[in-house]
Amino acid sequence: MSDASSCCSLREGGMKRGRARSPIEANGAAETGGREPPSSAFRRLGFVAADFRAMLERDPALGPGPAAFLEALTYAGFWAILSHRVAHLLGALRVPLLPRFLQALARFATGVDIHPGARIEGGLFIDHGMGTVIGETAWIGRGVTILHQVTLGGRGPRAVGKRHPTVGDGVFIGAGAKLLGPIRVGDYARIGANAVVLSDVPALATAVGVPARVVRAPAVRPRSSGGI
Ligand SMILES: CC(C)(COP(=O)(O)OP(=O)(O)OC[C@H]1O[C@@H](n2cnc3c(N)ncnc32)[C@H](O)[C@@H]1OP(=O)(O)O)[C@@H](O)C(=O)NCCC(=O)NCCS
Repeated sequence: MSDASSCCSLREGGMKRGRARSPIEANGAAETGGREPPSSAFRRLGFVAADFRAMLERDPALGPGPAAFLEALTYAGFWAILSHRVAHLLGALRVPLLPRFLQALARFATGVDIHPGARIEGGLFIDHGMGTVIGETAWIGRGVTILHQVTLGGRGPRAVGKRHPTVGDGVFIGAGAKLLGPIRVGDYARIGANAVVLSDVPALATAVGVPARVVRAPAVRPRSSGGI
């Protein structure tokens, strides 16, 4: 697992933009957060390599060389994502119970709780992982970095349809942040540690506090290797 010394210089996410639409753009198509077609869920299995690369690229606690590769295999966040990708496919194939069983197993083993229904693009890096929760209708874009104790949750038991956040490409979410409801966090935005985000955050903006407010809206996209 990544140690505390990696926290202070963690490199932020930000895979290069490809041709695929970010979840923010896709959400414009009046999606309700329903079950994904199996073909799309199957495509997500192929993102595992990008998920693994994300750790090597964004955690400076991992040095160069083959040792880093083996060390990365000890990261709880990676196993949680890998298990989620299998559970998500099984859910899309309408296999009963097994997706939820896998979710429970992964939560027990890693401390990360990802609902099988969540839609996660490639290159997600969950650092430390413990206590992170990702809800059923959450959508996460490419190259996102999430630290420990982050919640992508709903606003309450009466919500229906798409009730969890949509997070754009390259977003960075600091430790302990809570993003609640079907809000949209724009591409390359940054969410401060312990922020409680209840409304949309524009692309490239930095939001902090409770409730979160935008403190910075940079004119240019941060470099993917920019440290904090
Ligand atoms: C949000 C964050 C990314 C902003 O970084 P930044 O762009 O360099 O912004 P700054 O440090 O210049 O801060 C901008 C303003 O927001 C405030 N701020 C920054 N982070 C904050 C936070 N988490 N909560 C409340 N206010 C915060 C600063 O005090 C500053 O306020 P001011 O303009 O009134 O002085 C960073 O502060 C952060 O919270 N990173 C998360 C790190 C983390 O989770 N570490 C745990 C690793 S284990």
